[in-house]
Amino acid sequence: MPELDAQQQQAQQQINELETQLKQWAKEYYEQDAPSVEDAQYDRLYAQLTALAEQYPALIADDSITKQVGGNQLKDDLPKVNHPVPMLSLGDVFSYDELDTWFNTIQKQNEQSLTYNAELKIDGLAISLIYQEGQLVQASTRGDGSIGEDVTANIKEIDDIPQTLNEPLSVEVRGEVYMNKANFVALNEQRERDGLTTFANPRNAAAGSLRQLDPKITKQRKLSTFLYYAVDPLNSLNVTTQSELLEKLAALGLPTNPTNAVVSDLSESEAYIEQANAKRDQLAYGIDGIVFKVNDFALQNTLGNTVKVPRWAIAYKFPPEEAETVIQEITWTVGRTGAVTPTAIMDPVSLAGTTVARASLHNPAYLTGKDIRIGDTVLLHKAGDIIPEISEVVLSKRPSNAEPYPIPTECPVCHEALVHVDGEAALRCINPQCPAQIQESITHFASRQAMNIDGLGPKIVEQLLQRHLVQEVSDLYRLTFDDLIDLNKFGEVSANNLLTAIDQSRQNSVERLLFGLGIRNVGAKGAKVIAKHFGDLPTIAKATAEEIASIPGIGLVIGHSIAQYFSTPRAQALLEDLAGLGVNLAYTSEPLNITTDSIFNDKKVVITGKLSDMTRPEMTEWLEAHGATVANSVSKKTDLLIAGTDAGSKLTKAENLGVEIWSEAQFRDNMGE
Ligand code: IVH
Repeated sequence: MPELDAQQQQAQQQINELETQLKQWAKEYYEQDAPSVEDAQYDRLYAQLTALAEQYPALIADDSITKQVGGNQLKDDLPKVNHPVPMLSLGDVFSYDELDTWFNTIQKQNEQSLTYNAELKIDGLAISLIYQEGQLVQASTRGDGSIGEDVTANIKEIDDIPQTLNEPLSVEVRGEVYMNKANFVALNEQRERDGLTTFANPRNAAAGSLRQLDPKITKQRKLSTFLYYAVDPLNSLNVTTQSELLEKLAALGLPTNPTNAVVSDLSESEAYIEQANAKRDQLAYGIDGIVFKVNDFALQNTLGNTVKVPRWAIAYKFPPEEAETVIQEITWTVGRTGAVTPTAIMDPVSLAGTTVARASLHNPAYLTGKDIRIGDTVLLHKAGDIIPEISEVVLSKRPSNAEPYPIPTECPVCHEALVHVDGEAALRCINPQCPAQIQESITHFASRQAMNIDGLGPKIVEQLLQRHLVQEVSDLYRLTFDDLIDLNKFGEVSANNLLTAIDQSRQNSVERLLFGLGIRNVGAKGAKVIAKHFGDLPTIAKATAEEIASIPGIGLVIGHSIAQYFSTPRAQALLEDLAGLGVNLAYTSEPLNITTDSIFNDKKVVITGKLSDMTRPEMTEWLEAHGATVANSVSKKTDLLIAGTDAGSKLTKAENLGVEIWSEAQFRDNMGE
């Protein structure tokens, strides 16, 4: 190699530093599904490196990150598959100017004027699905573009991916698996309660849920899919343009995003971008930009690909939406499982469509890692387009007297010493008598999806605890009229109503009790499946983790949680106490009220929007009891969409697919049928 001059040496050093940093971040993002920096920060450094690579191509090594397709780190334990047609990444632009330059480069190579298909860039992870004669035979991740991971078993757990196409075609289709915002928020909340690290964005959550050895975990995580690509579409599907391809994929029963549009110039593209940006907050899923694809496949083939990206497509990345505010206070709350979580209380600020005044700081390591101090000015963004999160502290604005924030050593409520459980990010209060935990667990026990004790909210639970009227959930069944009449704002009527509600809950089918006990990892749906399988609580309490995990849809994580819970003398005593107090321990839900002659029998129903007559769990329960299956996302297989007010993308999708749509009132009118 010839000697480098001083300028080249400096460039080489800069390139090496950028490569090391970017490779580290790419590893966190793709391999560990846990990035430590924002996408925008990665993109900024990556752009610096590509600029240097253009200027000094000779200084770029063969293993440079600029020559790899994203996500080249594979999980060792998943089987590998080859992609004979590589799965490519996308080039990106960050401004209308850059987009215009790209359009001009393409246009220059063509005589006739062309059109582009504009699509949302879904914040998920790329997958490939191979169908042979209409049957799904293989599913894989992108990996390094040439070799990916076999996730066939996991993909079969995703509701909207059909096992069989509407025509017996052989084709490889590709697209994005993603986690919708609601599931992403719920999953992170659950993980936070369980003391686990949270996912930084829906893409990482989807990747962490799909790249799993246990398909049951994929099933629980409720992923969705949009497909947007086919290998050799001219021959395999007999379509000539990208927009036609999307229609064809939908006709085959595959999930596609309905928001695409054909555009022919920069001003139409800008209009599409503006429109997408405006409705971004209302979308059920996260997007991080817009993809423009030359619509005509023959022309795509002429333009071809570089090693890494197609020349016929480009991603316009949205600028990160950020806002600045000041930290006023950090509060600590104790959850049902004892996890103690910090929350930043900030000056209210408007960010991506909402006013934000609080942001979870997840756990002490997160707080100290970012070195957030009271009085600090911070930059806020919305993770996955939805959760307010602190990007960074603006150090130049730090007040001179700001002190590092001291992590509490004792529980803010019971003042017992806090502990770090091995392998957990959370700080925990392990005092089983901690009033905060007891209050949370009793409130959960009484909640609608659990024992459904109307009128027993957190305020009343707090009073019951302060007066030492309850210490355990079973104590609720010992309360008397005299106990209640003394409570704040209680009169004869409210005391009697609460007693009646408590008494009625004794008759609940046992899945409500199983969920109400607040066993870690046991959700309402899981509790129902388990209760139905074993028949009663004493049998569940005796079951081994493996026996529980053998139920379809229930994994070992849940199995171990339940077995561990019932192995304690405290749980056994509670069970006996509840039985002695006349609380039903048997599963009595179905088949008692299933009516197969209902018009809802065997129908696939999706519920969306805000409901006013019933809660969503109530509507779901009613529909299930009448033989319907309630799904989370709309697909061609959906028979009916029940839309409350403010319905969003599910409604649009149902309209596009021609699915029958009812208002809540129409549903009510048909309940008696
Ligand atoms: S086209 C050769 N279309 O973004 C085909 N990609 O950052 C290249 N993505 O690798 C992909 N939405 O995983 C395409 N509507 C869309 C997309 C999309 C999300 C992902 C895809 C791609 C990555 C590049």
